[in-house]
Amino acid sequence: MAASRGILMLRDMKVAFPYQFSSGGRWYSSKSPSLKGKSTSSQNWIKRQLSDPYVKKARTENYRCRSAFKLLEMDEKHRLLQPGSVVIDCGAAPGSWTQVAVDKVCSANQEHEASKAKGLVIGIDLEHMVPVEGAYILHQSDFTSQNTQQKILNILSGRQVDVVLSDMAPRATGQKALDHEQIINLCFTVLIFGRNVLRPGGHLVCKLWQGSDQPKLEHAMSTMFKKVKVAKPDSSRSESAEVFLVGKNFLEQKK
Ligand SMILES: C[S@@+](CC[C@H](N)C(=O)[O-])C[C@H]1O[C@@H](n2cnc3c(N)ncnc32)[C@H](O)[C@@H]1O
Repeated sequence: MAASRGILMLRDMKVAFPYQFSSGGRWYSSKSPSLKGKSTSSQNWIKRQLSDPYVKKARTENYRCRSAFKLLEMDEKHRLLQPGSVVIDCGAAPGSWTQVAVDKVCSANQEHEASKAKGLVIGIDLEHMVPVEGAYILHQSDFTSQNTQQKILNILSGRQVDVVLSDMAPRATGQKALDHEQIINLCFTVLIFGRNVLRPGGHLVCKLWQGSDQPKLEHAMSTMFKKVKVAKPDSSRSESAEVFLVGKNFLEQKK
């Protein structure tokens, strides 16, 4: 089952529900949490989660978190994920984008989908991640490290990538300028990696928190893609500074 040391081939593993796991300092659970003994800020977070329609929808549709709907909305609008696509999902935990990607590219390839091309999905996260059937998961792995990127290349074994996704977010310090700088650095790492692995015509989505360096990132992307769009899906909370840059149709790069 293991493709090589440190790389898990998780196609055949099933996740039992209910489950609970942590990501980005938060605990995610498929069960309703109790408010007892929690701090006010934790209580407020739990109350917001409980009244959020996307959280409820995520439960109903068996997604690990509400973020799934952000990718679904962007995919609906920009037609990013196709059966047979090769997808890299950076910052994948707890795994809802990976679940969406596996479904869209048919990388679990159930019998009823045998007529569709089989895709490949690789999810990477710093955190521990519960397996997603149909995806390779590099968990407890820093995407910015050479070691992790080499593992991704090993899994690809020469295949070009159709879509690079990044929902990566550094642990927020609360200092807007610093948090912005850190997420922009992650985005640039994703761009550099994307430049090396994307097929011409491929797509890249990266999340950032708005700030002064957004134009720099948009400019860098505009030199790599035919079109660059700023996306704020309805499922992204309006009070959040997050937006996504969608780079469409990767251009052949001069060597
Ligand atoms: C908002 S969450 C991603 C949610 C995910 N897209 C989903 O739908 O389940 C952001 C994730 O980025 C991860 N992350 C931040 N920096 C990273 C890095 N350098 N390498 C890999 N993952 C990173 C965090 O651990 C966190 O789990």
